[in-house]
Amino acid sequence: MTRVAVVIPAGGSGRRMGGALKPFLVLGGEPVLARCVRPFLDRADVVAVIVALPPLLHAAPPAWLMADHRVAIVVGGAERGDSVRNALAAVPADADVVLVHDAARPLVSPAVIERCVAAAAAGRSVIAAVAVVDTIKVVDGDGVVVNTPDRARLRAAQTPQAFPAAVLRDAYDRAAAAGIAATDDAALVARFGVVVGTVAGAVENLKITTAADLALAEALLARTGEAAPGVQ
Ligand code: CTP
Ligand code: MG
Repeated sequence: MTRVAVVIPAGGSGRRMGGALKPFLVLGGEPVLARCVRPFLDRADVVAVIVALPPLLHAAPPAWLMADHRVAIVVGGAERGDSVRNALAAVPADADVVLVHDAARPLVSPAVIERCVAAAAAGRSVIAAVAVVDTIKVVDGDGVVVNTPDRARLRAAQTPQAFPAAVLRDAYDRAAAAGIAATDDAALVARFGVVVGTVAGAVENLKITTAADLALAEALLARTGEAAPGVQ
């Protein structure tokens, strides 16, 4: 069986949410982070879930997070890439595949996770992505439209991003050696010549960035009847 490790960057400061710690906001009666880790822990092939937490929470992690013995925590870093790097260092050496999934995407479905795992187990590096519905404009520094890319060729990148473990480790090692800041994991491996594919994500797999996204996520949960009893 493929041994899957999951890296969950949850160390951000939620500036666009007014400084709220997004992973600990309550969504449908449960913390966002609890919803985020569950579909991974439901898989028998997941051997480790490494969560990067802000320093204060790392010092006193919530009991519900530590209830499964496969969960480990590390302290987050200044940027998302630093948090991923810290978590990657705690991934078991014998993991075959690493998935990186933002703590701010609590509605990730088992089907999206399965597509990511299957691709990485077959040796591919992939990101979950969806078609773009808006027409996207490239503007100059004054906001003047300079280009309208063909929408058919545009995708909105989501997480999970999935990699053969050696591919992601190698990219982070090479980035550190070259003094390159790791921003987006898929962009980082691509920088070192790895082909990055896409698998179908889901519109529901939204990233909670602002208060409006939290309201949208609540509505999506209520629609599917997944909200905790009494919270609809
Ligand atoms: N993240 C992290 N460490 C950081 C910054 C971000 O682990 N230093 C995580 C966030 O916790 C989140 C994911 O990366 O799960 C995506 O980041 P984003 O949605 O931008 O969250 P924040 O950085 O917390 O929000 P903001 O950018 O509004 O401050
Ligand atoms: Mg951020």
